[in-house]
Amino acid sequence: MRIGKYLAAGIAFCIVVPLLSACGRQQVDVPEKIQVGVAAYNQSDTFIGELVSCLKQQLEGVGESGYEVTMMVRDAAGSQRTQDDQVKELIDLGCNVLCVNLVDRADPSEIIDLARSSNVPIIFFNREPVAEDMMQWDRLYYVGADARQSGEMQGELVVDAIQADEAMDRNRDGKIQYVVLEGELGHQDAVIRTESAVEALKGHGVELEKLGFGTANWDRAQAQNRMQQLISQYPNQIELVIANNDAMALGAIDAYGKLNYTESALPVFFGIDGTGAGLEAVIDGQLSGTVYNDKEGQAAAMAGLAVAAVTGTGMDKIEFENEKYIFLPYHKVTQGNVRDFLYWGK
Ligand code: BGC
Ligand code: CA
Repeated sequence: MRIGKYLAAGIAFCIVVPLLSACGRQQVDVPEKIQVGVAAYNQSDTFIGELVSCLKQQLEGVGESGYEVTMMVRDAAGSQRTQDDQVKELIDLGCNVLCVNLVDRADPSEIIDLARSSNVPIIFFNREPVAEDMMQWDRLYYVGADARQSGEMQGELVVDAIQADEAMDRNRDGKIQYVVLEGELGHQDAVIRTESAVEALKGHGVELEKLGFGTANWDRAQAQNRMQQLISQYPNQIELVIANNDAMALGAIDAYGKLNYTESALPVFFGIDGTGAGLEAVIDGQLSGTVYNDKEGQAAAMAGLAVAAVTGTGMDKIEFENEKYIFLPYHKVTQGNVRDFLYWGK
């Protein structure tokens, strides 16, 4: 992986230089083993599953650069209480840095207390704790992406599609009748993505009519269900489906497939993430576009930060926002550039 190699080279530099410059001076206590404990909110979530595999690859790269690295993963399967116990277990097993994908992003206090009492730094990822909680301790970090940017890009992709094909307005009433499939309530990426996608559309002068929405918790099967309900409520009226992630956009496509809609009667679908299945659907033309949620970049940032947090070296080279945050940019994906993302970061 390209990022992996850069990261490995950077880390090798960071290990060697401080060791050399420490010669003759007081011995610095640098732990040799980096034991990463990963706590995932739900590993059956497609994007999270892919992100965790990227992190594994990145940490293998760190291992090749001279450190002994282990990674232990725990899946909370949607329960914050389970995750609290798993974090305790990871600390007891000797993890010296934690990567935590909170189940309930408003409820990290127990985990923060556990980590602080053992002095184990935490890199939260993908599910952002509120700012006050991030201030609870100085060894708390966050790696993720800016929800607003993904929504804006999704809205812009829709604008481009409308401009390229006026038949998207199927009933020719000058408005686009749409539905939204939303992620989990309370997740920073759900409400903000929806709002900013719609704002971007309106900002470009697109006349919209919202027919309805469904909350499908990021999940393909739930989205299929919600979509079937929306289709029966608004038969043949839906022209556009905006989904907060690819899994739900694919679920919406499944719903139409089940009802044997012919291609000419389908609305257009847009997702966010660029998961394996999402990119395939863009290639096939089933999904009109998606927005790449840079899991490789996020994983590389987490691996780099994990090394720096454990060893105490290289932290000054990391570019933080507000001292604790790293946000990776999103990228628009259409049929024209989708193949670039199949090998992203490799
Ligand atoms: C992703 C979703 C994922 C969610 C999990 C979001 O950033 O776009 O696909 O389900 O994070 O927290
Ligand atoms: Ca219309």
